[in-house]
Amino acid sequence: MVSVGFWFLSLCLFFGVRVHASSSSTTKDLQPYRTGFHFQPPKNWINDPNGPMYFNGVYHLFYQYNPYGPLWGNITWGHSISHDLVNWLILEPALTPKETYDIQGCLSGSTTILPTGPKPIILYTGQDINGSQVQNLATPKNLSDPFLKEWVKSSGNPFLTPVNDIGPTLFRDPSTAWIGPDGKWRMVIGSEINGHGTALLYYSTDGMKWTRSKKPLHFSSETNMWECPDFYPVSNVGTNGLDTSFQGNNTIHVLKASFNNHEYYVLGTYDPKTDMFHVVSNDFKVSNAQFQYDYGRFYASKSFYDSAKQRRVIWGWVNEGDSESDAIKKGWSGLQSFPRSIWLSDTRKQLVQWPVKEIEKLRAKQVSIKSRELKSGTLLEVSSITASQADVEVTFSLSKLDKTEQIDSEVADPQLLCNQKNASLSGSIGPFGILALASKNMTEQTAVFFRVFKGPHKFLVLMCSDQSRSSIAQEVDKSIYGAFLDLDPLHEKISLRSLIDHSIVESFGGEGLACITARVYPKVAINKQAKLYVFNNGKENVTMSSLNAWSMNKAQITPMV
Ligand code: FRU
Repeated sequence: MVSVGFWFLSLCLFFGVRVHASSSSTTKDLQPYRTGFHFQPPKNWINDPNGPMYFNGVYHLFYQYNPYGPLWGNITWGHSISHDLVNWLILEPALTPKETYDIQGCLSGSTTILPTGPKPIILYTGQDINGSQVQNLATPKNLSDPFLKEWVKSSGNPFLTPVNDIGPTLFRDPSTAWIGPDGKWRMVIGSEINGHGTALLYYSTDGMKWTRSKKPLHFSSETNMWECPDFYPVSNVGTNGLDTSFQGNNTIHVLKASFNNHEYYVLGTYDPKTDMFHVVSNDFKVSNAQFQYDYGRFYASKSFYDSAKQRRVIWGWVNEGDSESDAIKKGWSGLQSFPRSIWLSDTRKQLVQWPVKEIEKLRAKQVSIKSRELKSGTLLEVSSITASQADVEVTFSLSKLDKTEQIDSEVADPQLLCNQKNASLSGSIGPFGILALASKNMTEQTAVFFRVFKGPHKFLVLMCSDQSRSSIAQEVDKSIYGAFLDLDPLHEKISLRSLIDHSIVESFGGEGLACITARVYPKVAINKQAKLYVFNNGKENVTMSSLNAWSMNKAQITPMV
């Protein structure tokens, strides 16, 4: 079989592109926290993913990028392209802060593919010369360039400025636009009006000129400023994604807003004739019990409809848990999550996410362990794969739940529970799960695990990701994250998938019912010193029905010279 590297280089040669050689293993020793298959540029700062899209057979990812250093500043739209969402070619930034209307930064925004052409447009926020946030537009210079390397800012910029009740620094991050039955485009912009987080709604006939609707699409008096709003339909009848403009029966709409360092979402019905959005799930609130895309480190996400594979894909920014001075020492800061497919769960009550299938092409050596009983106190090493760069899938099943611990309330805060009951505290059923990036003597370990409780009406499955012992270094983040999985542990298996990649552990519980992403900075458990274990620290035995783990190859993330 032809290797991915060969394929990628052939593609570059085909398009007449020269690429840098990839970094050597010596660099890896000096830079133990750089990832193997999560997207990051060779150096400097990145934050939000911007305007991801699939256009003319090419995936584009833009992102907030400082070309001059490892801290936030000089914000441009970095630009990379791919044919498989795994291997990337890094191009020159698509937008740089040069004009009076974006001189203080080309902030976040989205792309929309207009049907005539078809032609993609970028809508983005500029921080202008006075520090005000204004909305701008850019279009590709040459539509026949397969990579859309150059983008031209519109002479009509800025097309919106913060007026009336909109604060000058509370007006940013235009969404992908969708078209209504009246032929008008709509998009939302994040804001805070009278102290309430708001998705302001705008209309346009051509995608170029925009006017504000009298009513916002939605707002919440429980939260402040909404960043990076995203609004899209999901199918009520299957897992396929839908175009952002899709209209029809059997859909539910998702509204996502970024605040309080998390990605909160609500589900609702949307009438494109009246632009009424009626929330059918719990509404927005700052709380760990609310729906979040990810209960760990994952922010300012952006989704797009991938017409090649009929799926909706999301990316999120995974920031650092070390200090600014560490960023300066490393010379970089920030990662993108692995791209995830997102769809409505079988219960239709929440979203489910799963790494895009293409990740499997990076899988190398595999270890499989067949069904086995994990007795109380079990610690089983999963050896002979690269534990610092791995994809791990493990499934547990429970036969008896009669000794399950009781829990007072079904509204318990999962993060608090995980903090109160860490991986070393034995319960009745659980903790059981994995120890990732563990050192030989166990002083370093990132535990991702489950506990099962009995609430007044049903069992509760708690998923935790515990960074409290991820590093012997003191100054790095040691958060413990938690989420509940909406599944019945008596009849359903409890599964965990973790993408372990040097300084990130991106975990999917219950086949994607809850995601928890962590950043970790082990000092000892790096590269070949890192180990992977499965454990059961609960008093009751647990069956591990299957375990499959793979060493992961490095993705080709290569700058164009
Ligand atoms: C979210 C955010 C956006 C803004 C961008 C600036 O992380 O604060 O609201 O546009 O980052 O880089």
